Formats: sequence, C-alpha cells, structure tokens
Amino acid sequence: MGEGEAQTGSSHYGGRALIVIRACSGFDELEACVQLQIETWGMDSSEVFPRKAYLLAQKIGGQVIGAFDTEVASQASAKGDLVGFVASWPGVKTTDSGPQPYLHSHMLAVREQYRNRGLGTRLKLEQRREALARGIRLMEWTFDPLEIKNAFLNIHKLGAIVYRYEPNFYGVSSSRLQGGLPTDRLVAEWQLDSPRVEAALECRPTAERIIEEKIEERISVPASIYQWKASEADRERALALQLENRRRFQHAFSRGLAVLSFTCNAEGNGVFELGPLAHSEAGLKSQGNGNL
Ligand SMILES: CC(C)(COP(=O)(O)OP(=O)(O)OC[C@H]1O[C@@H](n2cnc3c(N)ncnc32)[C@H](O)[C@@H]1OP(=O)(O)O)[C@@H](O)C(=O)NCCC(=O)NCCS
Repeated sequence: MGEGEAQTGSSHYGGRALIVIRACSGFDELEACVQLQIETWGMDSSEVFPRKAYLLAQKIGGQVIGAFDTEVASQASAKGDLVGFVASWPGVKTTDSGPQPYLHSHMLAVREQYRNRGLGTRLKLEQRREALARGIRLMEWTFDPLEIKNAFLNIHKLGAIVYRYEPNFYGVSSSRLQGGLPTDRLVAEWQLDSPRVEAALECRPTAERIIEEKIEERISVPASIYQWKASEADRERALALQLENRRRFQHAFSRGLAVLSFTCNAEGNGVFELGPLAHSEAGLKSQGNGNL
C-alpha cells in the first residue's frame, strides 16, 4: 500500500477481512486499545496504560491509530472491531541545532489471529505518514533485544537504526512477554524521511549502505529464546543470553557502532549486524534532555 493511501487505506486479504487503518476516535475505540493491550501483554493492572493516557496522546499531538476489521462490525463497534493499534506521545530533544520535536511510540499490537499479514507494518506506515504531514521527522520506540520478530520488523522492514541500550528500562514487569527477565530495551530511531528508511520501505539497499557500511560485529539471538523465556526451567538460559548480549551491545555502542541491519535464517535465528554509522546519519544523534 502506498503511503498516501494509508489513512483511509483498506485491504481485503485472506478472503476474509477488510481492514481499515485510521485514527481512533471516541471513548469506545480508546477503551478497545486498553483491552487489546491487556490481551497482548497480559500485564497486571498497575502497568496498564488507561484510556486517559490514550486520550491525552490525541490531545497533545501524539497518535492513536487502529486497524479495524470492518467485516466483523457489530452493534457495539459499528465501524469495525479493533484488531491492532499503535500509540505515540510527543517529546522534545535537545540537539546541537536547538529543540527538536519527535514522537515516542509505545505499544504496537496486532491481535494474534491477524498477525504476519502486514498489519503491524501498515500501522507504523500510517504513523510515519501522519507525522511527516505535520513536519515531524523523527520517531523512537524501545523494543526487547530478545524479540527476534520485532527486531526484524523494526530494523529490516522499517529501516530503524539502533545505538542505545537501556538495561532494565522499565524495572520489574508483569508482562507475559517479558518472561520474568529484566526489561532490557534497545532504542529504535526511525528517521522518517531518511534515505535508509525510504530504501527499507521500498525493499532495496541504499547506495550509502553499500559503500559505507562495514559490519564489524554480529550479535545473535537463537529462535529457541521464545521457549526459554516461556519456561521456568529454561529461564536461566534466557537470562544468561540477555546478560551476554547486553554486555556486547553496550561495548559495541561505546565504540561508536550501531545496529545497521538484522537478518533471520531459515531456522528463525536472528542476527543483529553492527557497524559504524554513515556520516550523514551520525549527525542526527542528539544530546541532553529528552533523550533515552
Ligand atoms: C509485533 C507485532 C505488532 C507485529 O505485527 P504483524 O502484523 O504480525 O507484523 P507484520 O505482518 O507487518 O510484519 C511482521 C514480519 O515479521 C516476520 N516474522 C514473523 N515471525 C517472525 C519471527 N519469529 N522471526 C522473524 N520474523 C518474523 C513476518 O514474516 C513479517 O515479515 P514479512 O512481511 O516480510 O513476511 C505483533 O507480532 C504483536 O502484536 N506482537 C506482540 C506485541 C509486541 O511484541 N509488540 C511490539 C513491541 S512494543
């Protein structure tokens, strides 16, 4: 789907669902985001973002965007059932050239039976389209470095770059997806109109990448991490891998490297590929307040 189509964009796939991607509106749709959040992460009530948080996102220049299955529209949700959503809140970074507005995206979720059909990507594309239309050129979010699928989506499909590691960022989390591990996070930086992002979205390598990128380090995550996290007996293995990869990411980032690409093999094992940032991209690194 082209960028311009996204806001009112719809697609018919799998012979079943007509999915519309659009901004959420009204209390019921925001409440549906809360419910999908609980269904997706299974966290306890102290960690749930309430409806008010989404309402504020809409009021202060953030985004709450939903994917709606219009073929299961019921009386309760006449305009379609919410089957995915993503939200962001505005922030300000202090950079060498002055304050820079950006969006911090938090919580991208697609209902399980609708996954792997492009909805997560379409929600991110709509965030990008809407932000650029308002002159906002930067978006960030954090993700778990042990989640192979998310790394693939963020780095390979969307073209985000990563050069920051936050150990135990949220503290202890009751999220089912966390598997009881410390909440280590990588920060994805999405430079919305950069050649890298445009190339990734068009599924082509940038000229810049071919010439300037030299992969100096590879950090692997085996596909079995999902079982290790889910099973009490294997939790120690997951923790050991997390600690080892944490050390390696931190060391690589302290040497000025960044995650530039991410690959998956046929067995589902993932590899972060790190190298020096191209000169043009390194210039966008920011300093001071508002930076994770
Ligand atoms: C992350 C999430 C939103 C993605 O939504 P989605 O609709 O499945 O995403 P898409 O279909 O657009 O893209 C997923 C891509 O990952 C690929 N993928 C699926 N499983 C994978 C795996 N185990 N390893 C690597 N890649 C994988 C898919 O094939 C697809 O790529 P392709 O389009 O090139 O084939 C969804 O999985 C989800 O809700 N997860 C739980 C919550 C979460 O982790 N949110 C993100 C962090 S805040």
